[in-house]
Amino acid sequence: MSDVRTFPDGFTWGVATAAYQIEGAVAEDGRSPSIWDTFSHTPGKIDNDDTGDVACDHYHRWKEDLDLVAAHGIPAYRLSLSWPRIMPDGRTVNRRGIDFYRSLVDGLLERDITPLVTLYHWDLPQVLDDGGPGSGWLGREVPLRFADYASFVGKELGDVVPGFTTLNEPWCSAYLGYASGEHAPGRTETPLAFRVAHHLNLAHGRAVSALRSVLPATAEISVTLNLMQVEAASDSVADRAAAHHVDLVANRVFLDPMLRGSYPQDLLDQTAHLTDWSFVEEGDLAECSPPVDLLGINFYNPMRVTAGEEGRPVPGTDRARGVDIPGPHTVMEWPIKASGLTDLLVRVHRDYGLPLVITENGTSGTSSLERPGPDGAVHDPHRIAYLHDHLGAVADAIDAGADVRGYYLWTLLDNFEWAWGYDKRFGIVHVDFDTQRRTPKDSARWYADVIARGGLLL
Ligand code: NOJ
Repeated sequence: MSDVRTFPDGFTWGVATAAYQIEGAVAEDGRSPSIWDTFSHTPGKIDNDDTGDVACDHYHRWKEDLDLVAAHGIPAYRLSLSWPRIMPDGRTVNRRGIDFYRSLVDGLLERDITPLVTLYHWDLPQVLDDGGPGSGWLGREVPLRFADYASFVGKELGDVVPGFTTLNEPWCSAYLGYASGEHAPGRTETPLAFRVAHHLNLAHGRAVSALRSVLPATAEISVTLNLMQVEAASDSVADRAAAHHVDLVANRVFLDPMLRGSYPQDLLDQTAHLTDWSFVEEGDLAECSPPVDLLGINFYNPMRVTAGEEGRPVPGTDRARGVDIPGPHTVMEWPIKASGLTDLLVRVHRDYGLPLVITENGTSGTSSLERPGPDGAVHDPHRIAYLHDHLGAVADAIDAGADVRGYYLWTLLDNFEWAWGYDKRFGIVHVDFDTQRRTPKDSARWYADVIARGGLLL
């Protein structure tokens, strides 16, 4: 028998999804538009002008989709809730919205699948962003509303859901939403990103406190960050300073207030030309940092950084700028380097000490590369190789002492990949968006085998 690289007892094997990327049914049962409905319906924002209107039609096909999870023996499922389904005006409960998720969660439990619920995967109710300057994540109202929403969800689902994660990748909400404009709401004023980051930190902290007061003591509360594994392009002082800067603005701007109750002084100093941080009010940092039980990490690729003009950092996953990591890349142009995940996990465990869980990891194909062949199967050896190497990297981190409790593969179904629309496919199950037919790819069977044997074949 071949050797198996096993994982610790109790290690969670899961798969992850997000509401707007799969549900569709955007105008059903009282759901109101989110900022992503508005953004995706703005011409030119999304490749091919795709929208999430139908997506994988998961809202109607969720039983079939959960059957697929069960059929592959996947014991855990990370889903996100659509805030505008549950509270269409951002504050008042829509019973049909929460009832949908109650059915979904009950459906998971009936199939012996453990849910992990993400409260916010980017679909802010549009109405909360409609109040002019200072509304949405730019203001202090949304963190308050978010805590109420968290409290309501906790009361409704806390008897059956053992784990909640507050925000998904607040980096994307802040920087892609407000600096680069690639994500909703599409603003392009870099200084705003820091204000938004702070309000996300505040929303997280208030949601943790709200959840804590309504959930059973056994509940596990976390946040999900897309931490960047930043490499300096060389050992030069300038390149190392540039890498440190990116670590501050991408990682520690969330990690430190949430987990230490402070912003690093060098972050404040190095961003002083962009913002004076006066939006951080007395008492905020204590509110940002109630203890969490786990830190969720989403990882896809490391990033190399070099010092550009006047020492300004040039982060690269951009080959054209010549600062990219050499070697293979995914179809997203993201470098593939699994050891980056090991380094990241070891570093975060060392610096912040709390248990970790991989809440997303996976890789993409395209519509033309991944589709059922003459044999009816979808062959995705590149994904199997990527997953094998990254799970190995998780095992390496565990061997090096990092306390990693689980792994959620991104993602179950090909879906609406945000600004890239439907062409980029991260699923282990192929979706034909014309017929909604699901076809498990080779990687789905491979993952089922990994889970069944409890580890990787060496
Ligand atoms: C992270 C996001 O959370 C998820 O929604 C997205 O599809 C993946 N990255 C892949 O880009």
